[in-house]
Amino acid sequence: RTEQQEAIMVEIIQKVEPYVQQQLEHDHSGHDWWHIDRVRKLSIEIAAKEGADPFVCELAALLHDVADEKLNESKQAGLDKVEQWLHQHVNDPDVITHVMTIIATMSYNGGQNPPMETLEGQVVQDADRLDALGAIGIARTFMYAGSKGSVMHEPDQDYSQYDYRAAGKSAIYHFYEKLLKLKDLMNTAYARELAEVRHQWMEMYLEQFYREWNVSDIR
Ligand code: ADP
Ligand code: NI
Repeated sequence: RTEQQEAIMVEIIQKVEPYVQQQLEHDHSGHDWWHIDRVRKLSIEIAAKEGADPFVCELAALLHDVADEKLNESKQAGLDKVEQWLHQHVNDPDVITHVMTIIATMSYNGGQNPPMETLEGQVVQDADRLDALGAIGIARTFMYAGSKGSVMHEPDQDYSQYDYRAAGKSAIYHFYEKLLKLKDLMNTAYARELAEVRHQWMEMYLEQFYREWNVSDIR
């Protein structure tokens, strides 16, 4: 890439930041700016290790939740909004298509979506999933549950009759329906390494949670 191209990319990133901040300003469902900022930083780290295009990764990471259906009338309306922004600020049509494909297909969807096609898509998806793990992931889970009015734990509850999107399940249940599965769904080797460590923190957390819940930690 030439110096001029680098300068254009820096300028685009500087413009997308305030746009994303403004779009997510009123969100309390776990899509706040600091989630975006962590996913951006993780994406840049993973991209460097895996040889992915850092610009496409950073741009997609910054925009990945702006189109979320929780923040828009529909997922399509959200995607149209992001595409419009990209057309106004990015000249390279390949970059626009690539970023749009990534953010349209990277959501978890109960693990049912097809695998990400490009390395850049794999990197950003891994980064988003890493932010659902470990100490931060635990904090986000309880924040989310609180915001939905869910309880933190329902011992002896049989969830087998509920489907994935059913509301009102406990925060602890979310570990089993999603979080503990994510380490085996990582796309890249480097993200898998990071996920292993964060996974262990969640396992330790759950062990201690149950000890305290059952008051079996007393001596
Ligand atoms: P993202 O698109 O960033 O992956 P999600 O909308 O899937 O975010 O979730 C936002 C945060 O809330 C994540 O940390 C996720 O694990 C958590 N979360 C999602 N669904 C639930 C739920 N039913 N109970 C508790 N936490 C949840
Ligand atoms: Ni996200």
